[in-house]
Amino acid sequence: MTDPGERLRSSLATDSASSAGSDWDSPIAMEALRATRVLHAADQEPFPAPSRIRIITIANQKGGVGKTTSTVNLGVALALYGLRTLVIDLDPQGNTSTALGVEHTVGTPSVYDALVGDSTLSEVVHPTTASPNLRCVPATIDLAGAEIELVSVVAREHRLRRAIEAHISALPEEQRPHYVLIDCPPSLGLLTLNALVAGDEVLIPIQCEYYALEGLGQLLSNIDLVRAHLNPAITVRSILLTMYDGRTKLADQVADEVRNHFGDLVLTSVIPRNVRVSEAPGYGQSVLTYDPGSRGSTSYVEAARELAQRGAVLPPLERPVTAGGLPPVPPVAALILGEPAAPTAEPSSTQESQ
Ligand SMILES: Nc1ncnc2c1ncn2[C@@H]1O[C@H](COP(=O)(O)OP(=O)(O)OP(=O)(O)O)[C@@H](O)[C@H]1O
Ligand SMILES: [Mg+2]
Repeated sequence: MTDPGERLRSSLATDSASSAGSDWDSPIAMEALRATRVLHAADQEPFPAPSRIRIITIANQKGGVGKTTSTVNLGVALALYGLRTLVIDLDPQGNTSTALGVEHTVGTPSVYDALVGDSTLSEVVHPTTASPNLRCVPATIDLAGAEIELVSVVAREHRLRRAIEAHISALPEEQRPHYVLIDCPPSLGLLTLNALVAGDEVLIPIQCEYYALEGLGQLLSNIDLVRAHLNPAITVRSILLTMYDGRTKLADQVADEVRNHFGDLVLTSVIPRNVRVSEAPGYGQSVLTYDPGSRGSTSYVEAARELAQRGAVLPPLERPVTAGGLPPVPPVAALILGEPAAPTAEPSSTQESQ
């Protein structure tokens, strides 16, 4: 038995059998119990499947707020609890690929080949060791050039959406992902724009720190512009509070402010600042597989459960995933800078009700 997860699983199973009646209130015992729950995810009640395929863009142009960490750990949690999940790394830094242990050296088939080249997503998708339910399209450093290379490409804002649609419709129904999670870079350029056009909803991670809300207004108004001109379905559906430090008043103040502002969009589960979360990528792992009993691991499982429960009762999309004609595309600069653009699509009345 060489797999470390497998070893831990069986040793915990033995421990729990032999310690029946012992004191489960000690911190170590509680942590072991939590670890058992995460590791035995497959034996537990699976998360409910979404009422339709969910394509979630994880965006915040502010750097280091937990986009990648949340993409990876929510993706692994959904997959461990029975939902087929495809993670797309759309950041040239390739941190999502690293954390999922997926090769992303130059030359590796990657999202760049699907965006700028002619590859299909099926040709660039890789399996992961975290779960057979989890697959990843990695990003290599080539992607750094894509912002410029895409400028002259036809329908450049729609490249990712088309690639995802083609991928999903080529798969037999029983292999189609329940969830597609797209990790964005910390900018509002063409890559993020592609992710906003490709997604049906946005999840915004917000770090419980000073200046947390800085720049959020610009992200929200860009999402409005994308909805008006490029993707009538896109809507912010979830906000996830990350790196919460319960010892500081500031963390509570930020959390309260975000909840007052965004109400029910904010997931009840909050991700604490936890050193195991930041160590895990160094081992090519999610925190769920690296230290399943840690607070970081269990809070990502709870956040994923909440996401899945909300996803089970989503209304149908106004625009189906395989929409035919694409609206004419206004210049990206007009979108980003908020310059007037020719009316091209239905106004935001086509947005789903929250
Ligand atoms: N809950 C947490 N506890 C401790 N460290 C965390 C937590 N979440 C994220 N980190 C660490 O904070 C740093 C930034 O996180 P992450 O890379 O996920 O942010 P990001 O928004 O994707 O950054 P970028 O904008 O550069 O893409 C990383 O070093 C990560 O390991
Ligand atoms: Mg990142």
